Amino acid sequence: MNLFDVYPLFDINIVKGQGRRITDDAGNQYLDLYGGHAVISIGHSHPLYIQAITEQLSRIGFYSNYVVNPLQQQLAEQLGAASGYDDYSLFLINSGAEANENALKLASFHNGKRRAIAFKRSFHGRTSVAVRVTDNPAIQAPINEGMPVTFLPFGEPSFVEEEFRRGDVSSLIIEGLQGVSGIYDPGDDFLRALRSLCTQYGVCMILDEIQSGYGRTGRFFAHQQSNIRPDIITVAKGMANGFPIGATLISPIFKPVHGMLGTTFGGNHLACAAAIAVLNVIEKEKLIDNAARVGKFLADELSSLPSLRELRGRGLMLGLEFDRPIHDLRRRLLFNQKIFTGAAGSHTLRLLPPLSLSHEEAAEAIDKIKKAVADSM
Ligand SMILES: Cc1ncc(COP(=O)(O)O)c(C=O)c1O
Repeated sequence: MNLFDVYPLFDINIVKGQGRRITDDAGNQYLDLYGGHAVISIGHSHPLYIQAITEQLSRIGFYSNYVVNPLQQQLAEQLGAASGYDDYSLFLINSGAEANENALKLASFHNGKRRAIAFKRSFHGRTSVAVRVTDNPAIQAPINEGMPVTFLPFGEPSFVEEEFRRGDVSSLIIEGLQGVSGIYDPGDDFLRALRSLCTQYGVCMILDEIQSGYGRTGRFFAHQQSNIRPDIITVAKGMANGFPIGATLISPIFKPVHGMLGTTFGGNHLACAAAIAVLNVIEKEKLIDNAARVGKFLADELSSLPSLRELRGRGLMLGLEFDRPIHDLRRRLLFNQKIFTGAAGSHTLRLLPPLSLSHEEAAEAIDKIKKAVADSM
C-alpha cells in the first residue's frame, strides 16, 4: 500500500529531538523554529514529559468515557488555574478541527441558529463545519457546503452588526492571532467591539486559540491581551507537546446534557497525563514569560532585515513578510543554516519555535537568518 500523497514533503527523516534541536537519519542537527507547526511547546523529549507518559502507560493508557477518569478532572483544574478560566468547563477531544466542530455545534445547540460569521484569511481546520468556516474554497468539498457562513474583514464592527441584525447568526469564530494565513492580529479594539456585539445580539463568541494559545504569544491566550472573555475557547496543538489532544473550554452559560457531545479517544488517560505534564513544565520553567521575552528579542533583531516588508505577531508566533518569494530563503535556512521554519503563502516566513527557546538559541537563529537572507538576495 502507498501513502495517500497529499503532503508536499521535504525529503528529511527526523529520528531524534532534544529540547529545541532535531536530528535527521544522516546525523544533521537542526534548530527547530517551527515546533512541528506550533505543536512542540515545552521542547522535544522533555524528561518530565517522558516520565509522566511512561509512568501512565505502565498503569493504563486508555479506557473509554464510560467510566470516571480523575486525570480529566485534574487537567481541567490545572488548565482553569493556568488560564484564568476556572469557572469554565472542559470537553476533551483529539485535534484542533474537532475542538472547533464541537464549539460551533454547541453554539448551535444553545441558541438554535445555524449561520456563522468567520473572517477573511481564517483557518479553523479541515473537517465538516471547521473547514466551512475556513476562508479557503480550495480545501472545501461540495459536501461541506451545507452550513451557512459569511466571511468578513477584520476591523469593521459595523459589517458584523449588519449581519447580526438579520437574527440568524449562531456563532462568530475568530483566531486569537491568525496563524496559517501569515500571523494577522485582529487588534484589541476590534475584539472588544466583537465581544460587545456578540453579547448584545446573543451570538456565541468562539475564540480559536489552537495556534495562538497555550502561552505562544506571551499570554496564556492571545485574546487575554484585549481583556475579553469569549463564550467558548478552543485549544489543541501545544496542549500536549505532540500527543494528539484538543479541548473546548465552555463558559457557564452552556448547560451540558448527557449525550450532547461525545468521543471515543478524547480525554484518554495517556493524553491527559501528557497534557498535565505540559502544564507542569510551562509553570515550572515559566515558559510563558520566556515566550514573551525571547519573542521580543527575535522580533527586535529581525525587524530590520533587508527586503523585509513587515514583521507581524507577538511572543513566539512571528510572521516575516518579505518583498519577494521566500522559497529560496527557506531552502537556504533548512539545508545551509539547518533551521526549520514555516511558511504562509509565497512571501511570509513563520516562526513558531518551542516556548522554551533560549536567548542563546534565538541569537544563533538571528545570525543564521541574517546570513540566509543575505545569501538569497
Ligand atoms: C487556528 C487553527 N485552528 C484549527 C486548526 C486545526 O487543527 P488540527 O490540524 O489539529 O485539526 C489549526 C491547525 O493548523 C489552526 O492553526
